[in-house]
Amino acid sequence: MTEEMSSYRWAFRCGSWTPTRSEWLFAARCIQREEKERIGQFVFAKDAKSAMAGRLLLRSFVCDSMRIPWSDIKLERSPRGKPCLKVCDDSRRGWSFNLSHQGDYTVLAAQQGVQVGVDIMKTVMPGSSSVPEFFRIMTRQFTAHEWSSIQSAGSERQQLAAFYRHWALKESFIKAIGTGLGFNLQRVEFHLSPELLTPGHVLRQTKMYLDEEPEENWIFEESLLDADHHVAVALGAAGTPPPLQSFPPPATFKLLSFSELIASASPLTDEDPAYWENFKTRAEAPQRQSDAHRQA
Ligand code: COA
Ligand code: MG
Repeated sequence: MTEEMSSYRWAFRCGSWTPTRSEWLFAARCIQREEKERIGQFVFAKDAKSAMAGRLLLRSFVCDSMRIPWSDIKLERSPRGKPCLKVCDDSRRGWSFNLSHQGDYTVLAAQQGVQVGVDIMKTVMPGSSSVPEFFRIMTRQFTAHEWSSIQSAGSERQQLAAFYRHWALKESFIKAIGTGLGFNLQRVEFHLSPELLTPGHVLRQTKMYLDEEPEENWIFEESLLDADHHVAVALGAAGTPPPLQSFPPPATFKLLSFSELIASASPLTDEDPAYWENFKTRAEAPQRQSDAHRQA
């Protein structure tokens, strides 16, 4: 982690994290009380772990980038739920950041000077319907152009991957502008880069159209954390297009270990043994037939 770093792309693989008692209790001490309580209410361990990793990623990033001591960091949420620094004025320090968790990972993307949104999607077979039926239910999420690109992707598996790639792109934009649900998804349309997306590479060629006009003020970075996980990072500037050549070169996501995740952490609250007792009884995830099938 260097001094002049002006962008962060971090990932934590919570899917393969089996917290020990001391890890879980320490993590719980290092996040804000209201977040600890929120995480304590999740029914499944998977959700608790990914949200916990998100809080630790956020605080580690603030600590590293802005040199704010861990215990001085005050994170809040915008009225629509987007995490931000106290007074929701990240622009003070020029940083914008965002989190996403889905599938096996929690990811953080942060950048100086532009608005940031990130979304990760795991390609999974639909739980209870066929792929065509699943697409039919999702019709309104994408435009005709996007559907033709999804449905010409090849096998059902490749079509699903294309679906989740588009999903991550759209969601990354919605998360960058922070509006959450309520944005008309038909207003934004993605035109995918013809280049192949492969793990270990970052694509910046995909273009967004807003209300049928090519949108020059936004850049999208796409990558695969592994064969199943698409990540999209939306980078946008209000007003003038961000000069691409002034951007740091596109970086792939850096996978952090748990010890890296807590390297700068310090406790905010006392140890709460009941928090572990509660966590350890949680089932990992709901039992779905498609999951069972995938693990078999
Ligand atoms: N804007 C940006 N980020 C937000 C946010 C907002 N309004 N509200 C919450 N977040 C952050 C939080 O850090 C949250 O994690 P946390 O609660 O553990 O802190 C994280 O984003 C959740 O993102 P992700 O893991 O990607 O979840 P999501 O994709 O299910 O939810 C929302 C994203 C909450 C922002 C919201 O936009 C949503 O529910 N969107 C679904 C809309 C939809 O139908 N999209 C279809 C796209 S084709
Ligand atoms: Mg998401």
